Amino acid sequence: MGRPNVVVVEDPRELGRAGAEWVARRVAGTPEASVVVPTGETPLNLYRELATLRDQGRFDPSMITVCQLDEYLGIGLDDRRRLFGWMQRTFLEPLRIADERVVRLPVSGDLDVACAAYDRELEGRGGVGIAILGIGANGHLGFNEPPSDRSAPTRRVQLSRSSVEANARYWGSPDDVPRSAVTIGMAPLLAARSILLLASGAGKQTIVTRAMQGPIVPDVPASYLQEADDVTVLVDRAAWPEGDRT
Ligand code: GLP
Repeated sequence: MGRPNVVVVEDPRELGRAGAEWVARRVAGTPEASVVVPTGETPLNLYRELATLRDQGRFDPSMITVCQLDEYLGIGLDDRRRLFGWMQRTFLEPLRIADERVVRLPVSGDLDVACAAYDRELEGRGGVGIAILGIGANGHLGFNEPPSDRSAPTRRVQLSRSSVEANARYWGSPDDVPRSAVTIGMAPLLAARSILLLASGAGKQTIVTRAMQGPIVPDVPASYLQEADDVTVLVDRAAWPEGDRT
């Protein structure tokens, strides 16, 4: 265990560039890694930069396996709000990741059984190799809503009011946001060999500070990153407290 390495960059564009370099380096070191990628807006520049690096022959994702981080429940398979669709448009298609290299979260059937099987599948792959994560305004990772303990497995969750409101901007209004989801648990995420946490913009500054400098508590799930191995926290200036800027 080591303290997270905080890297502060100028703006969202630099966040994308620095993040893509980080991912490309890690994948070069472990080309067959299981990689977890978030949806949301924060990683979009990083994904665009990765596609550029790929086109330049500086990033080869052909051997990675992409494992889905979180997904809504209670919507149709072709619903426009599917987080899998977001991942396809922003990550899988631009990087030309083959379908057989993607592991999807379960959204039907006996979810307790299917989520346990998902965790076993991750374990069978040697665990998560690289986890790229965003952070919710309430400190969630994926959809590990507060309170989430460090040992929480992959499971079905109810979304908090804070997450419903935060996600409304993607889909129109809070009424458009599904109320339940599945998420990779805290346990498999925290056991990842390398973790990159991304945060951008002034709206994330308070929660990033609590997560990195506050007590390690279930009410701020991202605070458990303080005790995980090999964590890089990549923030832009707006998302990091003034006095701590380097
Ligand atoms: C969403 C997703 C997370 C994502 C987070 C931050 O609720 N479940 O996986 O990381 O919120 O999103 P954004 O980057 O748009 O702020």
